[in-house]
Amino acid sequence: MHDRFLRACRREPVDVTPVWFMRQAGRYMAEYRALRAKRTMLEICKTPELALEVTLQPLRLGMDAAILFADILLPLEPMGASFEFAKGEGPVIHEPIRTRADVDRLRVCDPEEGLGYVLDALRLIRRELDGKTPVIGFAGAPFTIASYMIEGGKSSSYQLTKKMMWSEPELWGDLMRKVSEVVRLFLRAQVKAGAQAVQLFDSWVGSLSVEDYCAHVQPHVRHILADAMTLGVPVIHFGTGTSTLLEAQRDAGGTVIGVDWRIPLDLAWSRIGFDKAVQGNLDPLLLLAPPELAVERTRAVLRAAAGRPGHIFNLGHGIVPETPVDTVRAVIDAVHEGI
Ligand code: CP3
Repeated sequence: MHDRFLRACRREPVDVTPVWFMRQAGRYMAEYRALRAKRTMLEICKTPELALEVTLQPLRLGMDAAILFADILLPLEPMGASFEFAKGEGPVIHEPIRTRADVDRLRVCDPEEGLGYVLDALRLIRRELDGKTPVIGFAGAPFTIASYMIEGGKSSSYQLTKKMMWSEPELWGDLMRKVSEVVRLFLRAQVKAGAQAVQLFDSWVGSLSVEDYCAHVQPHVRHILADAMTLGVPVIHFGTGTSTLLEAQRDAGGTVIGVDWRIPLDLAWSRIGFDKAVQGNLDPLLLLAPPELAVERTRAVLRAAAGRPGHIFNLGHGIVPETPVDTVRAVIDAVHEGI
């Protein structure tokens, strides 16, 4: 049934639990590695035909949704903060955003201009998959994007980010407003280009206390999600390390709340409320375990969901490159088989 993912987002009855994986297109697949040997990550993102090809690659494994191949950092470039994916280091922002002048310099770009290639890719994907597999668009949430802008790359402590948030709350607010406006417009443009659901990735927000989340982040996320919820497609609100933030995230908005593996799914769902859909929550590293164990834990997630309407099976975070394709297939089959 091609629409079981969208039906589950809306908490409608489904034949079997739908499943897709964050980072389902990527280095764990030989086809992807073969293409990456010839092209950079950014070249793939910026060439709609290649983004289409990579988006489709994992679907032969049986996922119930496709996710646009792109990256949450792509808006940085048209905003005026150039970056690259450096080999082995992850993203490197050439001139990190740390001062009033840096923030004032950032542009609120029109997605049709600065990110037209993403929208072109989405149009191609939608045309290719129409009536077969729904396509998910996405954007990074303002805290997660701002943390890359300020730190200059990946961080484990978010020191400079938190320092700006606490020491220069006005500057922080202005940065969050600029990023949020770009994200809001980008999600709108993606739905217009054919995205049948969108996911907001607040991957690193779990580094915040509830107090700081509510004071410095939630108002901005709420603004984005309130707008996205008027677009008529399901909106997935995702974060990791968010066991303490689930209620605050739910209150910020979204049709579906993402849950990671650090909390049992049934406990998380009871706190979010069974009147909302949830997505999760297998530890992505279980895909490196013996396949029988990965399947057993998959069934445990299904048991925790207990057949309630509104569960989308996913990992608690993205697939890691070392993942065996056969284990991915085994988990997908186990989800579809049910308990
Ligand atoms: O999920 C999908 O299949 C869609 C594609 C997608 C990518 N990145 C492709 C990618 C999505 C949805 C993202 C989101 C993203 N990007 C997030 C949020 C989700 C998360 O994982 O927390 C974040 C924080 C980023 C930033 C980012 N992009 C980092 C930190 C890295 C380097 C780390 C790494 O895995 O190498 C990237 C690069 C990136 N984005 C790759 C892929 C497939 C690897 C690029 C490559 O070398 O081929």
